[in-house]
Amino acid sequence: SAAAEVARMLAAADSAAALTGAGVSTASGIPDFRSEGGIWDEFDPSEFRYARFRSDPDGFWERRVEMHAAVYGGDIEPNAAHEALGTLEQAGVLDTVVTQNIDGLHQAAGSETVVELHGNADRVICDGCGQQQRAAPVHERVVDGDVPPRCSDCEGLLKPDVVLFGESLPQTALQRARESAREADIFLAAGSSLSVQPASSLPRTAVRTGATLVVVNLEETPVSDITEYELLADVTEMLPAIADRV
Ligand code: OAD
Ligand code: ZN
Repeated sequence: SAAAEVARMLAAADSAAALTGAGVSTASGIPDFRSEGGIWDEFDPSEFRYARFRSDPDGFWERRVEMHAAVYGGDIEPNAAHEALGTLEQAGVLDTVVTQNIDGLHQAAGSETVVELHGNADRVICDGCGQQQRAAPVHERVVDGDVPPRCSDCEGLLKPDVVLFGESLPQTALQRARESAREADIFLAAGSSLSVQPASSLPRTAVRTGATLVVVNLEETPVSDITEYELLADVTEMLPAIADRV
């Protein structure tokens, strides 16, 4: 089977990396962005632009907290896809998980080397001094009408510690992601439409520098042309099937 072949390749590879997207968390009850019923059906992405955060921080924060409650508000737990990637790392065949997700579920499932390209929704960061803190108490302040929330040190605006549209990615994370793509003999993209730059360029980087590309996704992606194993499947079935065979 394809799962067995991928498992064999992983076991034989010197280095392997995974890139994940919202599709690995849909089974945990978090909608993805672009599928029907996805986050961008309910919310307008332009509301979460960095420029909007600066020009209308009150409006930005009110919508952000609504979105956070709708998307991450339930009892969110890792699913079989996260667990399988954790298992592959513990088995010593997967070096790095690069994720576009901001839900922290890879770490919750036991993945240790996780590169968060788009930040983490459980944190906020001061837009003035860069100090980070837990998001929950700040969200409570917003709900209580304390908008916009400000830094107690410098009075700067607090911002979700996630990459907003119009913001660049955290440079250290991006560098680590590119390094793991270049080093990888096997590059496994899972649960992502691979449509948002620069994360979406990582599979091409990996292939250009010698990797075999495996994609596990419900639908085709823009890199189908260079994908050696295109597994149109549910990540909660295919990733455990691979992990079970390593
Ligand atoms: P998308 O919503 O663009 O893509 C999710 C993909 O996962 C789709 O191709 C789905 O078909 C697939 N999918 C959903 N459930 C699945 C399952 N159980 N098994 C297999 N595949 C499944 O989400 P991302 O690619 O993560 O950025 O989107 C990338 C970025 O766009 C996000 O990080 C976010 C958004 O704008 C920022 O907010 C900066
Ligand atoms: Zn500050």
